[in-house]
Amino acid sequence: MFQMLSLFVKKPLLTLTFLTLILLIAVISLSPSSLFSQIPLNYAISGESDIWSAKRILEWRPCNWWLQGHLTALPAESNGYIRVDCYGGLNQMRRDLCDGVGVARLLNATLVLPKFEVAAYWNESSGFADVFDADYFIQQLKGFINVVNELPAEIASKEPVRVDCSKRKGQFDYVESILPSLLEHHYISITPAMSQRRDRFPLYAKAALCQACYSALRLTPILEKKSYELLEAIPKPFLSLHLRFEPDMVAYSQCEYNGLSQASVEAIAAARGDRKPWTGETARLWRNRGKCPLTPNETAFILQSLLIPKNTNIYLAAGDGIMELEGLTSVYTNVVTKSSLLSGEDFKNMHGNTKAALDYYVSINSDAYVATYFGNMDKMVAAMRAYKGLYKTIFLNRKDFADFTGHGLKGKELTGALKKAHTDDFVMGRGSALPDCFCDFKL
Ligand SMILES: *[C@@H]1O[C@H](CO)[C@@H](O)[C@H](O)[C@H]1NC(C)=O
Ligand SMILES: *[C@@H]1O[C@H](CO)[C@@H](O)[C@H](O)[C@H]1NC(C)=O
Ligand SMILES: *[C@@H]1O[C@H](CO)[C@@H](O)[C@H](O)[C@H]1NC(C)=O
Repeated sequence: MFQMLSLFVKKPLLTLTFLTLILLIAVISLSPSSLFSQIPLNYAISGESDIWSAKRILEWRPCNWWLQGHLTALPAESNGYIRVDCYGGLNQMRRDLCDGVGVARLLNATLVLPKFEVAAYWNESSGFADVFDADYFIQQLKGFINVVNELPAEIASKEPVRVDCSKRKGQFDYVESILPSLLEHHYISITPAMSQRRDRFPLYAKAALCQACYSALRLTPILEKKSYELLEAIPKPFLSLHLRFEPDMVAYSQCEYNGLSQASVEAIAAARGDRKPWTGETARLWRNRGKCPLTPNETAFILQSLLIPKNTNIYLAAGDGIMELEGLTSVYTNVVTKSSLLSGEDFKNMHGNTKAALDYYVSINSDAYVATYFGNMDKMVAAMRAYKGLYKTIFLNRKDFADFTGHGLKGKELTGALKKAHTDDFVMGRGSALPDCFCDFKL
């Protein structure tokens, strides 16, 4: 903890207010990762150094305007009540929630606890309060936006009027298009549009979004306890690897792979539906654009290129549906999963969203995080790690991998090129593409 603190103090953060420091201390002391920060994750082998020992030039940290943004007074009058309705997997719902809080603040509305809808594939019904601590959420947002647990009696019995933003194209203006509905109905629900340009939000709205997304979401005590139990069971130090190579996502990618087992080929074919894989020149261009998920075998190859030793403790942050996993586990032999570490009825009864919460929790507390894809979970985890000052985070570069192998690089040439490309990304803080709430600091 003191290591991390002095790290913050030494850097040019002199402009930070006392309040900000308090916030940082709170964040750091709440984080279980401080338990492990003493243990060096030193992978250096015989003279050559691993990717993490490269000297970084740039680091992402929470922007000052966010940490100070709550000083903007809330409007005296609320324009009405907004509920954010969220769909999809856990991290997609969370992304929509973040945006929705920004919109609600922009419209000077009062926020009602969000609704977490679940996509068919989860087959469950985890609401917001089943995953996240609702009281903590409300408390952490004080001063940023008003949040209510219960509606006033005159509207409590009504469902909100749904205002659909998702279909609106381009740069539509929330104040222009949504405020009239809010004023008319007093209680509306929205699902934010992906295309919305948050960079046009006034800073107080962006600050509410950032605060909601990165400082106000804590797992429920029950989930937090389970997650901590899992974290403790993982051998330390460890790397959390988010591997994506499930039949549905491979089918969705429309990529073709050589040398997969018959079982994988059939599983992918079953998931394809009418989405045919690209062939010939199109397939090659598609792959070169970095559109193809890395196989476990390719992942193991890149990890080795980065000089991450084969005896590294790896936590596989993934579901049980990963194909061709031997491609990884035949090289990296110390791989654990939540199903290998947790047993018991309470784990068996956990659903998709709560299991995803476990992977999320472990990944924001691991010594290192490596993502093979760039999905909602990876973005959320990378941001939280930056928030907590955990810098050992990389996204494997599918585009470079396709490019190098496409140009016939092999053996030492290939591993050397991969090491260099990934080290450059790491040193420059590239690839993480941290959202609006984070600013880069020169180191
Ligand atoms: C919201 O309140 C701020 C002052 O806090 C004001 O400047 C802004 O115009 C208001 N916006 C709306 C949409 O009411
Ligand atoms: C979904 O849940 C219902 C009720 O718990 C169960 O009967 C059904 O088999 C489940 N479906 C799948 C695909 O898991
Ligand atoms: C990956 O697959 C290739 C081709 O099948 C094989 O030669 C290689 O040994 C595999 N590598 C790993 C790390 O499993």
